Amino acid sequence: MGKDVIIALDFDSRERTLAFLDRFAGEERKPFVKIGMELYYAEGPAIVREVKARGHRIFLDLKLHDIPNTVKKAMAVLSGLDVDMVNLHAAGTRAMMEAALEGVTRSDGTRPLVIAVTQLTSTSQERMEQDLLIERPLDQVVLHYARCAAQAGLDGVVCSPLEAGKVHEACGDRFVTVTPGVRFAGGDTGDQVRVTTPARARELGADYIVVGRPITQAEDPAAAYRKCVEEFVTFS
Ligand code: C5P
Repeated sequence: MGKDVIIALDFDSRERTLAFLDRFAGEERKPFVKIGMELYYAEGPAIVREVKARGHRIFLDLKLHDIPNTVKKAMAVLSGLDVDMVNLHAAGTRAMMEAALEGVTRSDGTRPLVIAVTQLTSTSQERMEQDLLIERPLDQVVLHYARCAAQAGLDGVVCSPLEAGKVHEACGDRFVTVTPGVRFAGGDTGDQVRVTTPARARELGADYIVVGRPITQAEDPAAAYRKCVEEFVTFS
């Protein structure tokens, strides 16, 4: 599995997004980017097409969760946008994940990678027990959801870099781990609680790191991106 850095385009408008991407114009490597709910709901599918037309690979982070038939049809529409990675909630059950895979597969047999969200990192053990009535250790729940995703034929999960090793042990080395919560050594952690550096994420076996603010808020985003790539991908 090729490792890569994915920049989270957490912006609320086309203008801000394109101004940010313009700062990478002279770069040798076109960044893989993530478009989430904020930007997608602000600008719709047009922004996905526009970023794709600029040559970026795209992780469309919309975290689908609905009845299988609805998710299947929504995934068919999303795969028409020619994105490279999409995701959904494993809590939608195996039937929903299987339906999603059917929907997302294009007529020529190709499809984006399909990644499952297990338990959100904002959900604590206490909230999971009291609000969701799931009375098991959180790490066991995450691994169970990952196994269900693998059994449904999905390609991987979003998880903490700290969980990447266990996920690979349970689901195999080729099962992809996409990991947010990455910060440079000595950098501002923002609202992320458990953070790791790009270099540590590499050692822990993460396949893709999703990096937002350490790059988007940097004085020189292209330099911050290059630093991430050096630590995580090329390892110099
Ligand atoms: O700015 P920062 O590097 O914290 O951005 C991380 C990105 O990854 C954000 O887009 C956030 O929504 C996303 N994410 C996360 N934790 C998860 C799932 C997604 O931080 N468990």
